Amino acid sequence: MSVSEPQEQAGGYVLIKALEDGVVIMGLTRGRDTRSHHSERLDRGEVLVAQFTSTTAAIKIRGRAEIHTAVGTVESS
Ligand code: TRP
Repeated sequence: MSVSEPQEQAGGYVLIKALEDGVVIMGLTRGRDTRSHHSERLDRGEVLVAQFTSTTAAIKIRGRAEIHTAVGTVESS
């Protein structure tokens, strides 16, 4: 399987820690269309450990959070 195969891109984990109440995490679909297929709301201090899958290619985060991934850590504001 080549590195560019979509399936090989799936499976990575991300860890998100909410730094305020009401942080929203949206899962975006894999493939030609990009739409939000699921959302989770976290309150301050709550942590979500999530995995990319054949249906989830990207995530969008609204609100203040720490985001830890294999490529690094960043804080959203
Ligand atoms: N449907 C898009 C795809 O599978 C989802 C996506 C992946 C995306 N990476 C992105 C959307 C980066 C916006 C930005 O490629």
